[in-house]
Amino acid sequence: MKIIHVDDYYEMSKRAAEIVSNQLKLKPDSVLGLATGDTPLGMYRELIKKYKGAHIDFSKVKTFNLDEYCNLNKNNKQSYSYYMRENFFKHINISRRNINIPNGMAKDITKETFEYERKIINSGGIDLQILGIGTNGHIGFNEPQVKFEALTHMVNLDKQTIRDNARFFNSIEEVPTKAISMGIKTIMHARKIILLASGIKKAHVVYKSIYGEIKPTMPASVLQLHQNVICIVDKEASSKLYLNKSIRFLGGN
Ligand code: PGA
Repeated sequence: MKIIHVDDYYEMSKRAAEIVSNQLKLKPDSVLGLATGDTPLGMYRELIKKYKGAHIDFSKVKTFNLDEYCNLNKNNKQSYSYYMRENFFKHINISRRNINIPNGMAKDITKETFEYERKIINSGGIDLQILGIGTNGHIGFNEPQVKFEALTHMVNLDKQTIRDNARFFNSIEEVPTKAISMGIKTIMHARKIILLASGIKKAHVVYKSIYGEIKPTMPASVLQLHQNVICIVDKEASSKLYLNKSIRFLGGN
């Protein structure tokens, strides 16, 4: 795992956008795995700037989002479909038919999860996967105790995740309790992964994911087993990493 150490959220976002942009220069028809939440918002803003400056072209890009809540209509402002449309897709020249987000409203959720996995495989697999990390160490909605061998599946959201995400809803009762998520195995099949973390509230999980035992109770720890992970962490998120000098720091100061 390579660690890129940056000062703050803004630098983290710029670095991530740079890596995505370089990926598209090398392979304009890349398949991107995308994340939601507060963490990647700055990266999306930087990518939109690059697109508007004609430095980047999304016309051949395919995307697969990590996850989506169950039972939220895609026009609901808290759905990840809405988030992606408003924060990224409507600002760039991506073809609508190349956008894939799990359908949390599907009548047959199991069928939906199989089809999502099949679509990823048929697209040639994910070239570059963007990940945030939850305060409980989740990646996507792969909550503690997830099976590492899981493919895309329906999950029951962890109490901590529901508490964390309540900030986006009027009340905690409104937060959906189920979601569809790419599984750990789906994520680990990506050719390259960028893990983004910003802020002091992520410091303990960043530390445990990078140094800790690889175990399902800390889902992001599985990334230690992937050959091509770049972790971009700001000063606060990496504050516990300073304790161990054997980590390889790249960039930043
Ligand atoms: P956040 O969420 O980016 O809103 O902190 C990260 C996550 O839950 O994966």
